[in-house]
Amino acid sequence: MQTNSSLLNRYLSSMAPYLKPLYDTPISIDQGDGSYVWDVEGVEYLDFFGGVLTTMIGHNNSEVTKAIESQANKVLHTSTLYLSEPMIELAEEIAAISGIPDARVFFTASGSEANDTALMLATNFRSSNEVLAVRNSYHGRTFATQAVTGQSTWLASRISGLSVNYVQGPYRLSSPFEGVPDENITEMCVADLQQIMDTATTGEVACLIFEPIQGVGGYTVPPDGFYGSMQKILSNYGALIISDEVQTGWGRTGEHFWGYQAHGITPDMLTFAKGVGNGTALAGVVARAEIMESINALNFSTFGGNPLSAAAGLATLRYVVENNLQDNAKTMGSRLITGLESVAEETTWIGELRGRGLMIALEIVNHDGDRVIPDPHKAGELLEACKDNGILVGKAGVYGNVIRIAPMLTVTEEEIDSGVSKILKAIHSIQ
Ligand SMILES: Cc1ncc(COP(=O)(O)O)c(C=O)c1O
Repeated sequence: MQTNSSLLNRYLSSMAPYLKPLYDTPISIDQGDGSYVWDVEGVEYLDFFGGVLTTMIGHNNSEVTKAIESQANKVLHTSTLYLSEPMIELAEEIAAISGIPDARVFFTASGSEANDTALMLATNFRSSNEVLAVRNSYHGRTFATQAVTGQSTWLASRISGLSVNYVQGPYRLSSPFEGVPDENITEMCVADLQQIMDTATTGEVACLIFEPIQGVGGYTVPPDGFYGSMQKILSNYGALIISDEVQTGWGRTGEHFWGYQAHGITPDMLTFAKGVGNGTALAGVVARAEIMESINALNFSTFGGNPLSAAAGLATLRYVVENNLQDNAKTMGSRLITGLESVAEETTWIGELRGRGLMIALEIVNHDGDRVIPDPHKAGELLEACKDNGILVGKAGVYGNVIRIAPMLTVTEEEIDSGVSKILKAIHSIQ
């Protein structure tokens, strides 16, 4: 029988050495059902991370499995050279729900590739390599997306053909903006944006790429309207805006179907990935046709929109809409916040409980007088303690000191209550 440790040895000797499995004693997830998973040794966990927000409507969801089985019995792969019906149908449904006028879809196999494509479209359309990104962002691991990723811990390279400037963003706790209230942060960041335009660019900026709520950055939530105010400045220069909805899409924020809707804007492009395939490799970019038309060369994607992922995507998207899971994200998200609120207030090393919908974070800190210092070590302890108490959560933040809690959109009241009780036990175990 395989064990977690035998698989770890094989992982370490066969996979790229820069990959790091989570946990002091990493686990191999062998099976899942709804919000629960079991490792190869039969240990059960409540999964409040979903493989980084990817298993969005539960493990082993019968609608998705049925759609995959039925497609697998027909044809597994064709590519964008052929008129795959599931791919076309999914493009039609995503374009319609995107909110972008005259929308067209280009499918990719990952979020990084989707953002890469969006950057190529923006720079082509605007004939400029000048790009703005937000500090504390994460947009992927490809060469172009590394250039717009604002966290040194995730940077394998800073070499790029893009000329990137970073504007100030919504992360406040361990930053020069610590303590700045919502009423002021937007104004300060917009002033910074204007200064960046005046001092660091030619004015011919191609785009701003942003996450409506920063994911890997630790669920930093800007005030509503934040990116709308930025767009007012950017529109004076004709710069496009790209909303990276890889984590915030499909109703996860509860209040809206897309994260961008909290900002009173319609982006020129949005990118999606993760949850829409409920675990299959499905991602892409949506843009107005005129922007897509800026590519004149031959173009092709081997795996983008492949029939298997497209069938899974159609089943997932319809399940989300038909079961009104956006609403569930809102209700369950506030139940989760309520469950954690008092312990977050009482515990000196929990600097902040924040988030929206089913994107909830605990930022772990130390205090040195008035100064707040990130505490990645204690965050690591909490991550391990959660696992020891039977719940999987994630770690994030530029300083590695944020615990991310992101249950499936299908999560039930009982599962939220059970999750809260496990997290509270974990917190108490390391007081
Ligand atoms: C906001 C955001 N954009 C892009 C990506 C990259 O997606 P992928 O890992 O599918 O390449 C991620 C991955 O975590 C992400 O969180």
